[in-house]
Amino acid sequence: MKRSILLIAIVFALLGTACTQKPKETKKSEKEVVKLTDDERMAWWRDARFGMFIHWGPYAVPGGERNGKVCGGGAEWIMDKLDYTIEDYEKEVVDVFEPVNFDADEWVGIAKDAGMKYIVLTSKHHDGFAMWNSKISDYNIVKRTDFGRDVVKELAEACRKEDIVFCFYHSITDWHHPQAQSIFYPHYNVGQKDQTKSNPEFPKYFENYLKPQVRELLTNYGDIGVVWFDGEWIADYTTEMGKEMYEMIMELQPNTIVNNRVDKGRNGMAGMNVEGNFAGDFGTPEKEVPATGIDSDWEACFTMNGSWGYKPSDKKWKSDEKLIHSLIDIVSKGGNFLLNVGPDGLGVIPTESIEILASMGDWMDANSESIYGCKASPVNRPEWGRYTSKDKVVYAHVFDWPEDGKLMIDEKLKVKKANLVDGGKKLKVDGSIVVLPKNAPDNIASVIKLELAQ
Ligand code: GLC
Repeated sequence: MKRSILLIAIVFALLGTACTQKPKETKKSEKEVVKLTDDERMAWWRDARFGMFIHWGPYAVPGGERNGKVCGGGAEWIMDKLDYTIEDYEKEVVDVFEPVNFDADEWVGIAKDAGMKYIVLTSKHHDGFAMWNSKISDYNIVKRTDFGRDVVKELAEACRKEDIVFCFYHSITDWHHPQAQSIFYPHYNVGQKDQTKSNPEFPKYFENYLKPQVRELLTNYGDIGVVWFDGEWIADYTTEMGKEMYEMIMELQPNTIVNNRVDKGRNGMAGMNVEGNFAGDFGTPEKEVPATGIDSDWEACFTMNGSWGYKPSDKKWKSDEKLIHSLIDIVSKGGNFLLNVGPDGLGVIPTESIEILASMGDWMDANSESIYGCKASPVNRPEWGRYTSKDKVVYAHVFDWPEDGKLMIDEKLKVKKANLVDGGKKLKVDGSIVVLPKNAPDNIASVIKLELAQ
């Protein structure tokens, strides 16, 4: 179905229709879409809290290794880190990318079973390779590989069937496009460190390549939940370009959400914006969680081992316990958790990731009401775990189950009723003490629902 025309009006008539499950584009007719208020537009995303990041492209084939050398950091950077020329990269990496085992339904099923509500797929990473059937350039998965399938299309469709919101990550930095990178060649990464150099041709790439490709993605693949930019750090990309890009997206799909890396306001890895007038709807702390709750929209992205792209040599997988605690910690501070998988060169999500996600899914099956639609804790963080909140309910997530069976809760919480979320067992409350059963129902995090008197 065609996406289209921004209609700035009639918003008041729509107040109260905020969608809480998925992005809503209130259609006046087949072609007209009414722009929601910012709160309405953000509603599904604030409720969702948990999403899947997918870093996938030709770089999954070498998996971070070339001629016996392993690249440091994320394996999606291999082109830069292990000194491929563009020709080498095309020949050794892109032209052997044949992910015959890719199955969009399977990936979406894994995300859904984990309790994730949205998926952010790398449509193009810094290597410049497009994972959809682009008319702007043949450097894409359909035209360039024997595999020849449009991964963006398949995944967008699979998401829609399962009520998962489809979103894409898109790199502004492009090591393959001559107008975007030639000045740094062959050290693509110089642009990240040296802000004094820029490619005078970059505005042409922005106008004739980057924007048209983003336009394609927002025109041909249905409703897009989030456009998640990255690689905005290069000196070539300006705040004016960022604002222009944001405007363009709002014209194409007025209710799409855009991360803050569309502009130049990001405060490094901490991810939130520095002071100033910058475009973007949410902050993007990377592998970091703010120390306390923040009263604005943000999403922390994390890897499961140390790499975004597939990297079999990296065996440092985080435990399910750590990641479940991260999810709770993030929601207790009012953020979203975007957890990454890096499928391999054949299109298969690593077994380790599948196992971790299955375990997170088990926990979510029993406890997700303490995550979806929840906000930051209204009181300070307790020693034994975290609080999340929703209307007149506070959820106590107990990481360390008290041996004496007495859970001390914050004295500001006036509780009228308490029960275990998993199984519903009613619990006695004595002032600021909740009396617990001897054994924790869940040894990673047991959740207690505290209904407040006011
Ligand atoms: C970093 C990495 C990049 C990755 C991104 C995800 O910027 O360099 O490869 O895509 O994190 O946030």
